Amino acid sequence: MPIQIDPARVEELTEHQAAKLAEKLPRSIEFAKRASQSLAGGVACTWHALDPYTIYGSRGQGSRIWDLDGNAYVDLHCGYGVMVVGHAHPKVVEAIRERAGLGTHFAMPVEDTVIVAELLAERFGLPLWRFKNSGSEATMEACRIMRAATGRDLIVKVEGSYHGSSDGLAWSYWVDPAEAGPADRPAAVPNTAGVPDAFASVLRVVPYNDLPAVERILGDEGDCVAGMILEPILMNAGVIRPLAGYLQGLRELLNRHGALLAFDEVKTGVTIAAGGATEWAGVRPDVVALAKAIGGGVPVAAVGGTEEAMRVYLDGTLEGEGTFNGNPLSMAAARVVLTEILTPAVYERFDAQDQRFRASLQEVIDRHDLPATVQTVRCRGSVHFRSEPVRNFRDEADADGPLQHLAWLYQLGAGVFPPAGDPWTFSVGHTDEDLDAYVEAFATFAEAVTA
Ligand SMILES: Cc1ncc(COP(=O)(O)O)c(C=O)c1O
Repeated sequence: MPIQIDPARVEELTEHQAAKLAEKLPRSIEFAKRASQSLAGGVACTWHALDPYTIYGSRGQGSRIWDLDGNAYVDLHCGYGVMVVGHAHPKVVEAIRERAGLGTHFAMPVEDTVIVAELLAERFGLPLWRFKNSGSEATMEACRIMRAATGRDLIVKVEGSYHGSSDGLAWSYWVDPAEAGPADRPAAVPNTAGVPDAFASVLRVVPYNDLPAVERILGDEGDCVAGMILEPILMNAGVIRPLAGYLQGLRELLNRHGALLAFDEVKTGVTIAAGGATEWAGVRPDVVALAKAIGGGVPVAAVGGTEEAMRVYLDGTLEGEGTFNGNPLSMAAARVVLTEILTPAVYERFDAQDQRFRASLQEVIDRHDLPATVQTVRCRGSVHFRSEPVRNFRDEADADGPLQHLAWLYQLGAGVFPPAGDPWTFSVGHTDEDLDAYVEAFATFAEAVTA
């Protein structure tokens, strides 16, 4: 039976851990003052600003990163899940070096552009591809394809799923449940100011893992629905796995109403299986959006689809612009990532490491009766600080945020750098010992908080 955690104890330990962190980070804390003079809010991306201190990085190698103060960390953040190849992988370094010497950008496709498209087609079982530069662009394009291909405007999205910063999709990510309507019929809530309300009129929001909610929308206004975009495994509210039959059920429902299915595989992409969640779940979407890990650390994104969906590029229905689309430097990196680094053996190894890691964390949870559950898929996973299973965003919003933050501070203190709320990612460079460092810090946290 999970025990009740005393919030006062959590607060006291949080203050203590934050004070210890300040001692480790004098240069980062000092540098933040300089940064705030030229970078709005002191950072280039809002997510870089951490509570209580922004940590400035200096270098990375394999599974390790070093900050400006010289502290080393086992990197379980992997740069928002990008660095599944590990930092400064020699093959990526060599590919970038070679390409840089040959010129990095032309108004022409290069051989690698075609080779990478062929590699993705093989992995995802989807024949036609276009390239982009960020996940936000790829998901925006995926919606545009669905709209252009069907001649309809409505897009269905999942509450708690993050698809980047485009106006059309910057909705109902990490929202206050009190402002987001009933759990089974969520309202569309913008993620930020500056997104016009008008976009809500072409968006419908549903809970994850809830087929009847999608069926209801399709029943009411199916003739207007272009398609549904979702993270097939939700990875922006910790890791939440799809319930049995959910993805296949969506496939069938959308088909029945002439609407399309887009998987946002920006996170799952080539990381949890060669062909991402598409392969893992055995459900073929009409469109897939990729980014992050495919470039091994350089910016690149892709959108792929069936012939029926992608015909909109062939017949000129859809423009598909972008100065840096298929940039030669990005393509060179993606080619070695897909051919030489993320090979079938890697996914088998991730599987074995995941099983061991998950079991070790579960053992700590059981030993201390922590109100927590673990969900993982190969190199991705998270601890949800809630004793009941987490099946959608509202469940995760009900988890113990301060406890999660404290657990994260213990990791930093122990020289492990996981994301503050997001899933962990491990790379081809991570050893069992690296993962054990996380388990040890988790055990220290669990002991302290339940003492
Ligand atoms: C599932 C998912 N889709 C899209 C994006 C947006 O990608 P980017 O930040 O490259 O624009 C993210 C970013 O974290 C993501 O997690």
